[in-house]
Amino acid sequence: MNQEYNKIFPHEDELFAPDDVVFQDDEALFAQDEATSSSQEENSWEVLIIDDEEDVHQLTRFVLEDYVYQGKKLNFFSAYSAQEAKALFEQYPNVAIVLLDVVMETNDAGLKLVKYIRETQQNHFVRIILRTGQPGYAPEKQVILKYDINDYKNKTELTDQKLFTVITASLRTYSDMMTIESYRQHMEEKVAERTRELQEKNETLVKVNQEKNEFLGIAAHDLKNPLAAIQSLANLVRTSFDDFSKHKLIEFASMIEVSAQKMFSLIKNLLDVNVIESGKMNFSFCTYDILPFLQTVVNNYQEPAKAKEITLQLQVTQGEYQILADENATIQVLDNLISNAIKYSPRGKTVYTRILKGENTVRCEIQDEGPGLYEKEQRKLFDKFTRLTPRPTGGEHSTGLGLFIVKKLVETMNGQVWCESEPGKGATFIVEFPLGKVKGER
Ligand SMILES: Nc1ncnc2c1ncn2[C@@H]1O[C@H](COP(=O)(O)OP(=O)(O)OP(=O)(O)O)[C@@H](O)[C@H]1O
Ligand SMILES: [Mg+2]
Repeated sequence: MNQEYNKIFPHEDELFAPDDVVFQDDEALFAQDEATSSSQEENSWEVLIIDDEEDVHQLTRFVLEDYVYQGKKLNFFSAYSAQEAKALFEQYPNVAIVLLDVVMETNDAGLKLVKYIRETQQNHFVRIILRTGQPGYAPEKQVILKYDINDYKNKTELTDQKLFTVITASLRTYSDMMTIESYRQHMEEKVAERTRELQEKNETLVKVNQEKNEFLGIAAHDLKNPLAAIQSLANLVRTSFDDFSKHKLIEFASMIEVSAQKMFSLIKNLLDVNVIESGKMNFSFCTYDILPFLQTVVNNYQEPAKAKEITLQLQVTQGEYQILADENATIQVLDNLISNAIKYSPRGKTVYTRILKGENTVRCEIQDEGPGLYEKEQRKLFDKFTRLTPRPTGGEHSTGLGLFIVKKLVETMNGQVWCESEPGKGATFIVEFPLGKVKGER
């Protein structure tokens, strides 16, 4: 070794050291590849040899016979012309590598096939290695620039070592591309799923918005009448105060009060609906005896019932009626049902309220002798702003929200409410609350 040589390659050992490292790394890599592959299914990499010379096929198969990458062997297919290759491609779309000759049935049959694979088939994953025996027909520089191929080899170059390297490099890229592709597909599915969810949410929002507009329209309309009454009464008092007796003026004042009361109860109901629909109901559940609450509500309605000559009865067997519910919500439910029974009953009738204990529930029944409801109307009873054929018999106010609120409250308390009625024979509203367990009871 002369001095000049030593200058250029000062330490030959060092020079080769990195190669060793690379080799070690490769080994580690293969070891890792094998480890991952051992858990994979036994399948193979599909390799398509396209060449019009039988020798090339045989040699390639022979050289790579025992080749394994990521625990998978190679599975060879042979085509002897570009035409045959096209047919095979359609049959096996998951080919990983194509070893492609250029000159076959025509001088550029191989190159045309590249275009077919990439452009017609839109296959951008398969690794295409061009192997030509006549580089004159396909000069490397031009071909690699013009055609989407991944490697260019001269047939004479294809020793077993070179084949091993080119196949390994190609499979590594192919495998990475497939991993990325599967992530991409997964992401696409996720995006599609999210888009679907968003669309559904959007549709719900549109519906809710429509409902809100409708709701607002009805509410505004219902508020307008009592407001107009207040305005005209106030105007009358201001402009013609001296024309009215003290008694008449007091009457006007009570009419204003009634109108204000109507507006107040509508606004209260609207606020309740709003709280229910936004899911912000604040319930505090506890076990308590519902009977005293029922008695209080019945007592509160004795006066209004008397004013309509209606008898309001409470039928009860003494005892405890423990339920698990929210006290305020329970009062609101009973209040609505009893007020309806009186509101829609003609003068002189009777309203019966009963309380009964079931196996798992406590049931309250409110039965009236009013007009009752047709089946078709019964189905709408618990909807929002439902005002059906029965109208208040004593000029009471009706917002059409009471039963909607009742149903939501009862269901939130895990109970049930429904109506049984025959037209002309009155209606019975039944509400069931879950039985509350008293300490020590099983
Ligand atoms: N006991 C009943 N008998 C006959 N019809 C009834 C009875 N209870 C309710 N209805 C009908 O169902 C409709 C809806 O009742 P709901 O309690 O929801 O509203 P409302 O009584 O009109 O107004 P509010 O919001 O003040 O309660 C009433 O307008 C009425 O036509
Ligand atoms: Mg009502």
